[in-house]
Amino acid sequence: MMKANHVSISAVAGWVPNDVLTNYDLSKIVDTSDEWITTRTGIKERRILKDPKLATSDMAVGAINKLLSKTGVDPNEIDLIICATVTPDMLFPSTACLIANKVGAKNAFGFDLSAACSGFLFALDCGSKYISSGIYNKVIVVGADKMSSIIDYSDRQTCVLFGDGAGAVLLEPSDQPGIQDSVLKIDGSGGDYLKMVAGGSLNPASIETIKNKQHYAYQDGKTVFKFAVTKMADVSEEIMKRNHLCGEDVDWLVPHQANLRIIDATAKRMQIDSSKVMINIQKYGNTTAATIPLCLADWENKLKNGDNLILASFGGGFTWGAMYLTWRK
Ligand code: UT7
Repeated sequence: MMKANHVSISAVAGWVPNDVLTNYDLSKIVDTSDEWITTRTGIKERRILKDPKLATSDMAVGAINKLLSKTGVDPNEIDLIICATVTPDMLFPSTACLIANKVGAKNAFGFDLSAACSGFLFALDCGSKYISSGIYNKVIVVGADKMSSIIDYSDRQTCVLFGDGAGAVLLEPSDQPGIQDSVLKIDGSGGDYLKMVAGGSLNPASIETIKNKQHYAYQDGKTVFKFAVTKMADVSEEIMKRNHLCGEDVDWLVPHQANLRIIDATAKRMQIDSSKVMINIQKYGNTTAATIPLCLADWENKLKNGDNLILASFGGGFTWGAMYLTWRK
């Protein structure tokens, strides 16, 4: 029997493309306004990966290379790469394979994980188990999405919400508890409200699927909003209760960045002061699997050893969850 280890995030890095798409830019493409987008979502601008030769794996590699250079970890030491994404470069090979090759992780095992906006949280939980079980020592979890590749820029309800980006963390064994607990959920009966129906085995690409715009993300925003507000707060409350935490014990809430109103409602239910909520939705919009690690990267300098974090997400599937972790450095 192998020894069970504590696991912590030992480093984090984010990568976003340079090109900015502002609310004003969008108002020239669809019937919308900076005022509507700002008040309904909190988003001011998002990043877009414009170079057609670049894809999700390249953004993931951008984040991972930063992670490796700041930690001095040799790519050959990486045991496992889990890539959370709904916009893989292609259906196969997996994006994890492409990433491993590009970063020179010659000894790594890896796979993609599909859980939409909860992808990073699910992958983080999964990756941590490989370390707590004593199997591996260095696991990279990366959340990356090139949402602009599946967005219909004539659908004003959806195109204003999403952006491109990537964020990665290094997981390692630690002396003290880092990742402490998680509550993860799926409910496939919500699948129809947020989906991309074509390009898989049910509706392979055809002239019809293209005509019907089925290679784009579809969202029934109102319905998803209702579920997101309730479910994200439910799991956050559940994880706090079962770990005997009150709002004051939590140093940071790290919520998925889909809508500022959902984030505010979650913080309120958890009785967490808004000064302790990581929010960067105004800069990046919803980058799907990348939102949580991009928050961690933006706040890294403010995080102190022993800080208690609650990570929370909700997304297509439906998928949702919360994680309680203590920052170690
Ligand atoms: O990350 C995955 C999970 N996703 C989410 O959590 C997203 C959840 N949903 C949302 O964030 C919100 O539902 C949206 C931001 C998508 C929409 O906000 P809403 O407050 O639910 O607006 P709505 O859909 O009720 O639309 C209100 C009005 C409608 O017009 P009428 O019917 O009242 O005349 C829409 O047609 O706003 C209109 N509208 C817009 N107007 C200007 C919808 N999109 C736009 C737009 N610009 N971009």
